[in-house]
Amino acid sequence: MLKGKHIILGISGGIAAYKSVMLLRLLIKAGAEVQVVITPSGKEFITPVTLSALSGKPVVSEFFTANTGEWHSHVDLGLWADAMVIAPATANTIAKMANGVADNMLVTTYLSAKAPVFVAPAMDLDMMAHPSTKRNIELLRSYGNHIIEPAEGELASHLVGKGRMEEPENIVKVLDGFFDRKEDLAGKKVLITAGPTYEKIDPVRFIGNYSTGKMGYALAREAAGRGAEVTLVSGPVSLTINHPSINVRHVESAKEMLAECESHFPESDIAIMCAAVADYAPAHPVDKKIKREGSDAPVIELVKNPDIARTLGLSKRDGQILVGFALETDNESINAQAKLKSKNLDMIVLNSLRDKGAGFGTDTNKVTIYMADGRELRFDTKSKDDVAGDIIDTIASL
Ligand code: C5P
Repeated sequence: MLKGKHIILGISGGIAAYKSVMLLRLLIKAGAEVQVVITPSGKEFITPVTLSALSGKPVVSEFFTANTGEWHSHVDLGLWADAMVIAPATANTIAKMANGVADNMLVTTYLSAKAPVFVAPAMDLDMMAHPSTKRNIELLRSYGNHIIEPAEGELASHLVGKGRMEEPENIVKVLDGFFDRKEDLAGKKVLITAGPTYEKIDPVRFIGNYSTGKMGYALAREAAGRGAEVTLVSGPVSLTINHPSINVRHVESAKEMLAECESHFPESDIAIMCAAVADYAPAHPVDKKIKREGSDAPVIELVKNPDIARTLGLSKRDGQILVGFALETDNESINAQAKLKSKNLDMIVLNSLRDKGAGFGTDTNKVTIYMADGRELRFDTKSKDDVAGDIIDTIASL
């Protein structure tokens, strides 16, 4: 599937640059045409001679060729490419990409690229874990870039942790899979809920939960990437998303989420209820801040929130697919299957808080899918992006 594809291979200055040579070889072997763009510090790790010999093209690094004054057009390069893959992507390059700091040919080309971009981070575990890096990676994701998650293992520093650039064979598989992917949701309208809901107590306090929205946002990206037109109804989260086929509707409370869902569900082919909706809301939210001084500890009376999934299930028409989630701590399978029936769902995705690497805030998830026709599909622990792929595959198979 990579045959004849134009790939820009961006190499930044990390020890893992030595793996880029193998990546380049594999891409060429698969029949791709590869243009290497390297940062000045990338050249400290790997020589342009090796890269140009393997790619059969002069390596681009500077804006101009010094002795001839020839300008290297990042705009033309950006338009030429079918995909750009940045491997290794160092913390520095990721930060520049996230913030548009176009002080070298690689980042300038990235900003001009119209094609899908794949980013394979490589760095020491502490740099990887730093909030700044994490935020920058989230920003890249929100621009629609595909993050090829680094693996855990021994690093150049001899420390062991997350930060090893994914192996070249696997990066090629990701690219191959991308070009091979079906537009199997083309023309479909997909409604997705994500994140928590906040239920107001007073102007400064609310009842909420630990949901971060990562799973729902991954589903939105996956569905849009496969051709769907997505409406993402999102509770308050710190994630952002920026995709021409994703319409984000920001809401705060369950009531607001229900209103958005009711207005979009009739025209939807598929609805995925991924939000962690608060079950109860304060019965009497107040307009002024509840004071501590001189008052007894307040008792907050709660009322039941609407069950959005169940409400949509009641009005579901033939041909519409309704998917729910169940986050359970005990009796997982029985509870999930009961919800599948009571909410009139076509499938329910169970994640158990007892499983390591599943649930709130993690980058991974481990799910079992129960189908209305009685099938039960178990999946391994995977990144939330890959879990989103499995869920959308299962929906597409319906
Ligand atoms: O009943 P429970 O909250 O465990 O069900 C979880 C499923 O129902 C999820 O798909 C969730 O998004 C949805 N739900 C909802 N509205 C609620 C509560 C849950 O849509 N008020």
